[in-house]
Amino acid sequence: MNSTASGAYSGVLGEEEMEFLSVLADPARVSRQILDALVLRYGQITRLFDAGAGTDPRLAADCNSLGIEYHFSEPGTKMAQGRYINMASILENKLKAAHIPHSGTTTRLPGFPSDAGFGAADVVHMRAVLMHLPWRDQVRSLTAAYSYATKAVVMIDYDWSAGMTSTTHPQEIAEFTRLAFALMGFAGINPYMGRQHQSILTLAAEDGFDATFPGSEIETLSFPRQEDNYTAELLALGRDMYLAASRMALAEVVNGLRAWRWRAQESPIRFVPAPLCAMIIHKPQ
Ligand SMILES: C[S@@+](CC[C@H](N)C(=O)[O-])C[C@H]1O[C@@H](n2cnc3c(N)ncnc32)[C@H](O)[C@@H]1O
Repeated sequence: MNSTASGAYSGVLGEEEMEFLSVLADPARVSRQILDALVLRYGQITRLFDAGAGTDPRLAADCNSLGIEYHFSEPGTKMAQGRYINMASILENKLKAAHIPHSGTTTRLPGFPSDAGFGAADVVHMRAVLMHLPWRDQVRSLTAAYSYATKAVVMIDYDWSAGMTSTTHPQEIAEFTRLAFALMGFAGINPYMGRQHQSILTLAAEDGFDATFPGSEIETLSFPRQEDNYTAELLALGRDMYLAASRMALAEVVNGLRAWRWRAQESPIRFVPAPLCAMIIHKPQ
């Protein structure tokens, strides 16, 4: 994955984002692993729809290398050079510059772009997106994704329930976790989403939605990592959190992260990161 970021995209991504993507390899690795398994299972996948795609072009590059059409939605904005920039156009520019075929829309979940010239997709992929949505929108997004996909719906989110642990730097990791939870709390992000995918189905049923998906097969996966030196990843996440907390004017989190970074950057930090978890719903074929 790292070589993709530094190869195809050099000159396309800013230096800082190149570094961020290369140290934040895990989401791309997990999506690629799932994609490979789907190709193996279904034989052929023609089209993937990436809902809430963000600005990371690696899934598109992986789709391209596997002969899968890449379509995405991205309704968000991002602060860069002191102004808000449309994330869909950032991703679009990267994909154009890397000559990766694609199409994009700013459709917001739970909506899917049925009348924007997009056909159904074999696979709908939602990574680190449901955790940002209120539960009713999670339910609606999942049922809409299920209608939109012909083969499978893939949900991937972090699960912070076990916390991040470190045998060598427990204090630095505990403080980082405290600040991350404070930020997620203010931002309305669910840190446990990765282990709560199945509860979306329960909530749906309780609220009268039909999310039983008769005949489908539900697969749940976890991608834990061993304790290791992930200092670069931690500092990159810390920087991202700092920018988000500054934008939201969360003085306590901003000051906390400033103090944390001062202590953390000196030491190679070994820790167990929060794992990514996935739920895949395979539709009856
Ligand atoms: C943590 S980022 C993840 C981006 C990308 N999926 C990835 O894993 O690299 C969360 C993304 O969810 C998007 N998002 C938030 N609310 C959304 C909604 N209602 N519909 C679609 N995307 C949404 C944001 O714009 C942002 O790009």
